[in-house]
Amino acid sequence: MIKTISWDRGAVVMIDQRALPHEERYITCREYREVIDAINDMTIRGAPAVGIAAAMGIALGALNLPGKQLKEDFYSICDAFSRTRPTAVNLFWAIDRMKSRFEKEFASTPNIKAAAVKKALTEEALRILEEDVRANRQMGIHGKRLIKDGDTILTHCNAGALATGGYGTALGVIRAAHEEGKKIHVLVDETRPLLQGARLTAWEMKNEGIPATLITDSMAGSFMKRGMVNLVIVGADRIAANGDVANKIGTYSLAVLAKANRVPFYVAAPISTIDRHTRTGNEIPIEERKEKEVLRFHGTKIAPGGFNAYNPAFDVTPNRYITAIITEKGIITAPFLKGFKESGSQGFE
Ligand code: MRU
Repeated sequence: MIKTISWDRGAVVMIDQRALPHEERYITCREYREVIDAINDMTIRGAPAVGIAAAMGIALGALNLPGKQLKEDFYSICDAFSRTRPTAVNLFWAIDRMKSRFEKEFASTPNIKAAAVKKALTEEALRILEEDVRANRQMGIHGKRLIKDGDTILTHCNAGALATGGYGTALGVIRAAHEEGKKIHVLVDETRPLLQGARLTAWEMKNEGIPATLITDSMAGSFMKRGMVNLVIVGADRIAANGDVANKIGTYSLAVLAKANRVPFYVAAPISTIDRHTRTGNEIPIEERKEKEVLRFHGTKIAPGGFNAYNPAFDVTPNRYITAIITEKGIITAPFLKGFKESGSQGFE
């Protein structure tokens, strides 16, 4: 299994997702600002992976501070990470975890040395990474029973090992079914404009030997209508308390098409993606990215010069289109707020 992100003796190492699938190269960040750049330019992407990168980046920033400046500058490092990508709540969740650990260390040991706090922050970031991989494996165990031998599964964007600490959410469920010996086939939406499906999901499927076929985004509806899709599984960037789901742009259209064609539509995401402070999907901030990502295709201009484009990176799927949400705590069905409470999800108890 590839290492999406790791901590290596005081540096953050990540696979450069911009270069995939043609080149497998890694970048090493020794300053927290380099981690911020990596999040902004999509060297690392995917909601849980962005959260892990922020946690490690904060640990790195703290490590590089002179001891006496730690208390003063820690929060401005956290704030800098919170200004990167607005939609995935895992980012803010991870920042909050790092802040809580920081505060706990100072509260529990008066006169604690800066070195001990820095060590605790590194530990916390590594714990977030480990917990994420464990949660993904649990999601796989719960979710694989939704997949039958012979099923064709449609997925959008990349919710795989590359988007997480490892194993993946939507692709984790698919992986688990494949590992169990189920004969499955995956339809991979290419996912314009940045082609996370064609570049990243296809790469992961190929590496694992999971039978898969690439389709363009606009083909999905026709494939569903022709009875060629048994279920859809996608990841999520933020799930509101009522079960509305923000995910990569195009997810909403897939969900509506799935409902119209009576194809089950599943979302796989860790509990850390559920935002109890956001009541409905209308409150989820949607990241707007640069026009050039739409106006160009792999660096080549595809529209007349001077033309403009619109580029929201995510959309919101209302809960009524979602058959179930697969989490590490189990499979949750509507009404989702009740389901989140019953599953003992953090903050919903
Ligand atoms: O813009 P990206 O590539 O970060 O968007 C990623 C997605 O939309 C994923 O589906 C989502 O983050 C879930 S990843 C487990």
